[in-house]
Amino acid sequence: MTNSETKATLSFSDGSPSLEMPIYKGSIGPDVIDIRKLYGATGMFTYDPGFMSTAACNSSITYIDGDKGELLYRGYPIEQLAVNGGDFLETCYLLLNGELPNAAQKEEFVSTVTKHTMVHEQMQFFFRGFRRDAHPMSVLVGTVGALSSFYHDSLDINDPHHREVSAIRLIAKMPTLVAMAYKYSIGQPFVYPRNDLSYSANFMHMMFSTPCEEYKVNDVLVRALDRILILHADHEQNASTSTVRLAGSSGANPFACIAAGIACLWGPAHGGANEAALSMLEEIGSVDNIPSFIAQVKDKNSGVKLMGFGHRVYKNYDPRAKLMRETCYEVLQELGLQDDPLFKLAMALEKIALEDEYFVSRKLYPNVDFYSGIVQRALGIPTALFTGIFALARTVGWIAQWKEMISDPEQKIGRPRQLFVGAPKRDVVAIDKR
Ligand code: ACO
Repeated sequence: MTNSETKATLSFSDGSPSLEMPIYKGSIGPDVIDIRKLYGATGMFTYDPGFMSTAACNSSITYIDGDKGELLYRGYPIEQLAVNGGDFLETCYLLLNGELPNAAQKEEFVSTVTKHTMVHEQMQFFFRGFRRDAHPMSVLVGTVGALSSFYHDSLDINDPHHREVSAIRLIAKMPTLVAMAYKYSIGQPFVYPRNDLSYSANFMHMMFSTPCEEYKVNDVLVRALDRILILHADHEQNASTSTVRLAGSSGANPFACIAAGIACLWGPAHGGANEAALSMLEEIGSVDNIPSFIAQVKDKNSGVKLMGFGHRVYKNYDPRAKLMRETCYEVLQELGLQDDPLFKLAMALEKIALEDEYFVSRKLYPNVDFYSGIVQRALGIPTALFTGIFALARTVGWIAQWKEMISDPEQKIGRPRQLFVGAPKRDVVAIDKR
């Protein structure tokens, strides 16, 4: 962390002595005030529910400029990575190692990931314990957590080699587990991975092949899936990533930490939004119903939100949403679905919302989830699995952030404070006297 000479002075209106606190500069983005000594010096905590103004760590992985609508992985704009940056595994290498791989590094990385895609045969019994209609996210929370029980020999988080092996295992096995969750839900046999296919093509093979019929890989659809994975790979200190870091801060093993991240991602305000956005479009049904739906969204008492719109950090068009809209168009074109009514409805809804004073004044723009549901549906992925695909993509971001945290000398167990507003100390009264 760069320590600047600048300091912030905090003064108090009750006459308590003022306090100087160091200010640190990042390479880009807002500076931070180091308040670590505040409690010791004043006996006071800061109050920041939702971390609106609090940086919980320093990181050199992903940077978002929410006002500009800019997303950088290790300094590279997401648009360049999605269009010219090679496939998803190249992005994985970048996020994990800080640099794009050269040809030899790429070959070695792809080969290592490819050789770890199978899960222990015993894993199928975890799946068989679930109801067939279980939500895939509940299955993933369980099975990813269960992975930790297979690798006792390489779970020493203080050993850099063990951390590396766990990262590779997670990236390699997530597609297998997501596809197994799907196959189990529809009662088809699990399909084993194939080493001659790319990461995304192999995932589609495990999803859509059966013992009686091999899935024919379509390059346009594989590219679309690869783009979904690249766009969702990391997003700095979002809720699920912070969950992974917090779980990991106690020294928990990486599989348990990623399971915690999956649990957090499941929520509709986070990863569940793509599923919710598609259901919303289906519910609206036709362009004629948009005005009445927008009126409901604007009515605070209705509890209705425009799903796939708005973001805690982006106060401009989410750059991933633009790329996703482009992919949506390509996929529908390839499948002869260019007149897809939901895509048309989404574009009409976006246009109306972007011109509406309610959305303009609150800087509410489409986020990545607004279009990703339509793309996934076109690829044949069932709605209930959308968030599972997000988890598959985000695993590399989670594990890169976890690795960064473990090797950070400033890392401490995450332990927020509170403003206590409950009953002060009191005595227990015997039950017959209450
Ligand atoms: N529809 C209608 N109004 C909205 C929406 C929305 N989607 N999002 C925010 N607003 C309104 C809020 O009601 C609030 O209005 P007010 O100032 O009159 O009270 C204002 O915009 C500010 O919104 P906040 O809720 O304070 O913003 P916050 O940063 O807390 O929430 C969030 C961000 C959770 C993403 C929110 O925009 C939302 O719920 N969006 C819909 C769900 C969604 O698409 N989530 C995906 C996020 S991206 C991802 O995880 C990949």
